Formats: sequence, structure tokens, C-alpha cells
Amino acid sequence: MKIAFVGKGGSGKTTLSSLFIRHLAAEGAPVVAVDADINQHLGAALGLDESEAAALPAMGDHLLLIKDHLRGTNPRIASADTMIKTTPPGEGSRLLRVQEDNPVYDACARPVALDGGTVRLMVTGPFTDADLGVACYHSKTGAVELCLNHLVDGPDEYVVVDMTAGSDSFASGMFTRFDMTFLVAEPTRKGVSVYRQYKEYARDFGVALRVVGNKVQGPDDLDFLRAEVGDDLLVTVGHSDWVRAMEKGRPPRFAALEESNRLALRALREAADATYERRDWERYTRQMVHFHLKNARSWGNERTGADLAAQIDPGFVLGESVTAGA
Ligand SMILES: Nc1ncnc2c1ncn2[C@@H]1O[C@H](COP(=O)(O)OP(=O)(O)OP(=O)(O)O)[C@@H](O)[C@H]1O
Ligand SMILES: [Mg+2]
Repeated sequence: MKIAFVGKGGSGKTTLSSLFIRHLAAEGAPVVAVDADINQHLGAALGLDESEAAALPAMGDHLLLIKDHLRGTNPRIASADTMIKTTPPGEGSRLLRVQEDNPVYDACARPVALDGGTVRLMVTGPFTDADLGVACYHSKTGAVELCLNHLVDGPDEYVVVDMTAGSDSFASGMFTRFDMTFLVAEPTRKGVSVYRQYKEYARDFGVALRVVGNKVQGPDDLDFLRAEVGDDLLVTVGHSDWVRAMEKGRPPRFAALEESNRLALRALREAADATYERRDWERYTRQMVHFHLKNARSWGNERTGADLAAQIDPGFVLGESVTAGA
């Protein structure tokens, strides 16, 4: 399962991603955690101290390795130079799995021990202004997108991405890469406006989007969110003393998380798991191709000097039955 947390800056994306990751780990589920947010805080939210977080390898620094690994022996992708963030896999490409060792994880993932289990953490590295450009060839989120597009994941294994709701994720198609997108919203007009914008983009692509209310303090907050987002509101999370203690660098045992918040995390997992039966690899592949062609036309062909439409393998459908090439 691929799950994204998006929302307005400061809404609690990182906090809720980290709680959800801890919840999955405590239940024994395999997890790859990905920090693709502008503000790189997921490592800290998972309990790493400053020097540990600073020592994490940045996916953006390994873009060439990622591209070279993933293209494998795919004859349609002549070199890493012509591989852009939307280049889809085809016959000969190497695919990634959640539970395996591979050169991409060796270079970019680090284990983080949590109560009940160890997860893999990958981080894009801090963004520069250039990374936020829609057309950016070296984009750091591009490294994440390439990995998602080459990932074959099953039920009961999770990739959780802490992400921005920025325009580059809409342009590249990254927002369509998830089984479930949790939009974290505080009960404020700004929090809800990000939801409206996301919903607009999501509608045309069948993106499963649910709202997680955060910092919800009472009936008035709840009424506001219900009125603004209706049935898309999945659960709400209140102020958490556990989170506060964690922020002070003294995380209590995860089992001590407030009961109401634990129930909310369970509801998130159930909602994500329930999407699995609607998993449609053909649509997933089709959307990958759609956004690749769009990016090829708007900047990729010019940038690489190649006709990137030729990278598409017309007979290829990503899926659990596809065996890794090369
Ligand atoms: N439910 C909560 N209880 C207590 N504190 C919270 C809660 N949710 C978020 N916070 C606090 O609010 C602040 C912002 O949260 P967080 O960093 O998770 O937001 P974000 O959306 O990831 O922000 P950014 O856009 O900067 O990445 C943090 O200090 C966090 O500890
Ligand atoms: Mg954050």
C-alpha cells in the first residue's frame, strides 16, 4: 500500500505520518517511510536526534544511481540522462519491492528502530527553490516518484510518504501514485482551502482522498470540518500530550499514546487497507504514461533532446505478477 500525507504547512503532516508509521511498526507491518516534504522533519519525528537526522543520505544525491538501477536493461531507456522523473518502467526495467534489499535502499534508506519494529527511512534531502519547479530535471521529489513508479507493493506492506501538496506533484502526476491520500487539515479556512484544491485535482484521476482533522479541540471545530468537507472527513485528532513529550525529545513508549489517537490511527489503517480491493494496476500504469507524455511534451523532450514518448512500452502493465527484469 502506498499512502501519502499532504496538507497545508504546519497542519501536522509530519506528526501524523510519524504516528501512523509508529502504529504500523507496532503492529508488525513492514514500512518504508519517505520524507518528501519541503521541511525535512520526518526523521526527527521518528525519534532521530539532530546528528542522526543530518547523517541520513539524501535521495536527491543519488538520483543517477536510482535511474541507472531502475532502467536495468530496458532497451527503450538508452541512458540515465534521458530518464526524467516520469519515465515509466517497461520490459527490462528493475522493479522495487517493499521487503527486499536492493541498491536503492542500500544507498538511500536507513533503518529506524521504533517500539515494536524497525522501519526503513528514506529522505529526499532539503529542497532548494529550483527543486520546486514543475519542470525540474534534477527534482528531489523526482527520485521519490521514480521509485513509486517502479514499486510493486502488496497488501500488508506500506510505503508512507510525508509530502507537500505543491503544484509539482500535480504536474508530475505524483499525486496519483497512492492508494490513499490523507489530507491533514486544521479546522481553519486555510486548512480547508488546501483540501478543496486537492479534491479538484484528485477528482479527474480517481484519487482516494480522505481528510484527517488535526488539532481539533471541541464540538465547534468538529462541526466546522464536517460542514466544510462532509463525508470526506475520516477522523479527527486532538491535541496530543504524547506528541508534545516527543517534541521535547522525551518520547514515552508508543503504547502510552492517548486512546482516542490510537483509535484514529487504527481508522487510518483500515481506510487505507480497504482501498486494496480497488487497486487497479492498469489504471496506475495508464496514468503513469499519461503524465509522462504530458511532461515529455511540456519540457522533457526539449530538455533531453530525445523523443521521450518512445520510452513507453505499450505492452507493459506494472503489477505483482511482473517479475523484475535484468
Ligand atoms: N495532534 C497534535 N498534538 C500536539 N501537537 C501537534 C499535533 N499535531 C501537530 N502538532 C505540532 O504542530 C507543529 C506542526 O506539526 P508538523 O510539523 O507535523 O506539521 P507539518 O504539516 O508537517 O508542517 P510543515 O509544513 O512545516 O512540514 C509541530 O510542532 C507538532 O508537534
Ligand atoms: Mg512536515
